[in-house]
Amino acid sequence: MSSVTTRALLEMKEKGERIVALTCYDALFARLLDASGVDILLVGDSLNQVLAGAPSTLSATLDQMIYHTTIVRRGTERAMVVCDMPFLSYQVSPEDALRNCGRAMKETGCHAVKIEGGQPIAATVRRLVDIGIPVMGHLGLTPQSVHALGGYRVQGRDDVAAGRLKADAAALQDAGAFAVVLELVPAPLASQITKALSIPTIGIGAGPACDGQVLVLHDMLGLNDQFSAKFVKKYAALAEDVREAARVFAAEVREGRYPGPEHSFGK
Ligand code: KIV
Repeated sequence: MSSVTTRALLEMKEKGERIVALTCYDALFARLLDASGVDILLVGDSLNQVLAGAPSTLSATLDQMIYHTTIVRRGTERAMVVCDMPFLSYQVSPEDALRNCGRAMKETGCHAVKIEGGQPIAATVRRLVDIGIPVMGHLGLTPQSVHALGGYRVQGRDDVAAGRLKADAAALQDAGAFAVVLELVPAPLASQITKALSIPTIGIGAGPACDGQVLVLHDMLGLNDQFSAKFVKKYAALAEDVREAARVFAAEVREGRYPGPEHSFGK
């Protein structure tokens, strides 16, 4: 049992304590992030872009998500592990969603699933919650709909879209979601939604008023230096560290300076 539960997250909102979330795709980083006190490790389908080099999240598969969530769970003791459900694993019918989300819970040991969408998916959220699967919602820029949305753009900018987002958030809460990610939403709108909901909002590009924040780990570490966005703060510059370490290793191997006697076995 993780010590960060859905109930603990609700209590954090009530007490005004900020929730810290990062994406995580493997056991090694899970161990490091868990030890740093990160509350939620989200096994995002962004791994399809960040690790697999695909142009979007759309081609991520359930088997891929199950594999990565299993290894993240293996490296985690305290944090809540959330499996991001890939495109078409929950949209076809509530029964299909039940089977696929149930498979994710059974096979990975994760604590919750995340699915994208608002009112059209609310009945599915209710069905999942009713059988005991905790659901995190995801609104605003929902990457699995990137083509329908016309690209990776801020959502909810006009009154009609803002009203729809508020109604979507309320529908997810009513359906039993325990939290909702708000991605690329204007800060004032995210603030209004956060105040209107009793469940926590987790923002990414949604300003400071959300109850928590999530970033893609490889972006905030500066490992994925092909991606930059206004909302991403880089807390390290690891891509350059990796390139430099590989350059030095290559030079030492080519010049016969590695391995030295201290790295070799006498007999
Ligand atoms: O896939 C992902 O990493 C996500 C986060 C960006 C919220 O959904």
